[in-house]
Amino acid sequence: MTREPFALAGTAFHTPERGKLEVLDNHLFLIDTQGRIAEVLAPDHPDHEGRKQAARQAGTLVELAEGQYLLPGLIDLHIHAPQWPHMGKALDVPLEVWLQKYTFPLEARFADVDFAREVYAELVENLLANGTTTALYFATVHTPATLALAEICLEKGQRALVGKVVMDDPDQCPPFYRDADAESAVADTRQFIEAVRAIDQGERPLVQPVITPRFIPSCTDAALQGLGELAQEYGCHVQTHCSESDWANEYVRSRHGKTDASSLDCFGLLTRHTILAHSNFITPEDMGLIQDRGAGVAHCPLSNFYFANAVFPLRAALDRGMHVGLGTDVSGGYSPSLFDGCRHALSASRALQSGVHASLPPHERGAQGDPISHHEAFWLATAGGAEALDLPTGRFRAGHEFDALLIDTKVAASNVRIRTEDDTLEDAFQKIVLNATRANITSVWVNGRNVVRQ
Ligand code: GUN
Ligand code: FE
Repeated sequence: MTREPFALAGTAFHTPERGKLEVLDNHLFLIDTQGRIAEVLAPDHPDHEGRKQAARQAGTLVELAEGQYLLPGLIDLHIHAPQWPHMGKALDVPLEVWLQKYTFPLEARFADVDFAREVYAELVENLLANGTTTALYFATVHTPATLALAEICLEKGQRALVGKVVMDDPDQCPPFYRDADAESAVADTRQFIEAVRAIDQGERPLVQPVITPRFIPSCTDAALQGLGELAQEYGCHVQTHCSESDWANEYVRSRHGKTDASSLDCFGLLTRHTILAHSNFITPEDMGLIQDRGAGVAHCPLSNFYFANAVFPLRAALDRGMHVGLGTDVSGGYSPSLFDGCRHALSASRALQSGVHASLPPHERGAQGDPISHHEAFWLATAGGAEALDLPTGRFRAGHEFDALLIDTKVAASNVRIRTEDDTLEDAFQKIVLNATRANITSVWVNGRNVVRQ
């Protein structure tokens, strides 16, 4: 799809490299007819003024006012679309009970496509308003409802990777909510992949299908085998839960005699386009394997406080150069906001690295290494997630998709208070990462399309 080119003039923040903030002070961003960033011109570039004037005259210039800043769009690397109605409730039991008691009954209702459409439309609108320009979705076992989610993302303009969930093991999945058998689960996944590819046939599709075994405990070996073969055949993304809690981790060890990561690898499910949610209990060997395959981890710090029994070793994963991004894990995580995700990642990392038992001496209290910085947290929510997905978004670079947020720190309801006489642009960025809310997100673009405008 082509659209009118436009230009945007103002100050942007991004973290193109992990841990490094780049302030693009008073730059000009030129967006092409494909919704891509054509050029980024610094104020001293010889063409800067002329191109800005030309866009102004053409009526295609967006000029940021004082207190307004541009950020790359946020990337949710792990979210359960059908759990939207439960967001913020039912977090009183451990994961394995939560699934059976609350989650499977809710997800079973998505057999009704009308119900699915209503929930998914509300979800996608709300995620966009919270600044999530790309989402990697788990849907449900139902192909029609999952296809409806893909259509809604396309219509509302959210970049999305959508998976029909596979769960076929009668030992772990209730009769009212599971695939009939491994064969039909794999056949339905194939049909789903073809259907999504048919609704978005562009060279750079906005919506893509994802092979989605829920987690090893809910799938038979035959289903995992079949899905691994599909991953090979179609080369599409794969997502699953990996070593999330003591229970989930031990279940796989007792069934397969190995860790989740090595078991997934045996089934051909660990690829450059695989995203493993959580991965709290991965071993150093698992880290090496995940890194060798080029797979990534969706770190979901808020959900982990409830379900994981441990904190993901984020510093260790980052230091060895693994692909890592952030997931909200709605509704295991109760917030749809990736700004909140950044804050929870910062808190979790601080707790892990400093330790939490005041009775221990400081040198025995925590894990080795520094907690993550707010630059690293924001990188996880943007460029880190994009790299894990292998998508050209998450930073302001020529050739990348124009997926962006306009943050207005001067809206009446702002918790971000900037005093230009006291705060540097670096300070403004930190304040935004730590305190921006939905109220500050006054415009959102995905692929150059203005999908939210307050
Ligand atoms: N493991 C398997 N399914 C789920 C789920 O829906 N949420 C979380 N957090 N973990 C899971
Ligand atoms: Fe999850």
